Amino acid sequence: MPIGVFDSGHGGLTVWRALATHLPEQDFLYLGDHANAPYGEHNPEEIYRLTMIGVERLFAGGCRLVVLACNTAAAVALRRLQQDWLPAYPERRILGIFVPTVEHLTGVAWAQDPPSRAARPADPRRTAAGFATTRTVESHAYAHEIRRRAPGFAVHETACPGLVAALEGGAPREEIRRLVGGFCGDLTGRLEGAGLDAVVLGCTHFPLVEEEFRAALPAAAPLISQSDLVAAGLAGYLERRPGFAAPGGGTRFLTTGDPALVSARASALLGAPFVFEAAG
Ligand code: DGL
Repeated sequence: MPIGVFDSGHGGLTVWRALATHLPEQDFLYLGDHANAPYGEHNPEEIYRLTMIGVERLFAGGCRLVVLACNTAAAVALRRLQQDWLPAYPERRILGIFVPTVEHLTGVAWAQDPPSRAARPADPRRTAAGFATTRTVESHAYAHEIRRRAPGFAVHETACPGLVAALEGGAPREEIRRLVGGFCGDLTGRLEGAGLDAVVLGCTHFPLVEEEFRAALPAAAPLISQSDLVAAGLAGYLERRPGFAAPGGGTRFLTTGDPALVSARASALLGAPFVFEAAG
């Protein structure tokens, strides 16, 4: 019974890599919906439908627990899936990706009600920047959840249209640098010289080009590793609910796209050999 890891394409591999490193004793089943990527430019109804089909495939593959390693799917579809669809699968669970990120940034546990103004010891003014897909930014899920817990946070969200398509399509490095440079330039223009306390690459594809982001951002901007936070979150979850653990230590990689092409691109992007099989 592996733990499922779902993304629209290659991006979730950045999360899988951290999961496999932090939890080497667990079995994983990765599904990339490459045939329908990028998700960030579909409408929310379509993202909901595609995410549901992807999770259903992972359930059919034996997963009882699925990690949505996709900010777009988590921001747009997760809550609705959990409320309207998952009750038909009482023994299964879906975990998102922005919960650990929001907890880390705000220091407030998700399950805990946001502290009242009186109970909050100090609410320092801080500034976070998030880069994400158009749909994730339009959902304002990050800004909303962060500011609900830490109203002193200014959250600057920047949509990055075209970047996921460029990565999925194997665009040359100069093209990626040009796109990333433009998005970072937009952000720095809006900051008007203000410093940053945290930068979140809020799309799991973007750590694949972390170097390009680092080069284009102000030198002191601290990047948060969402993958490591998700891995730590999953480790804690499995400790609290050992029934969802999946002892084994291996991973199978499935794709809705062309397995040969996807394997070649994934190997190039991650710098390690990947072999994808066709999702049945
Ligand atoms: N990697 C995904 C995310 O974290 C989805 C990107 C896309 O397919 O547009 O948002």
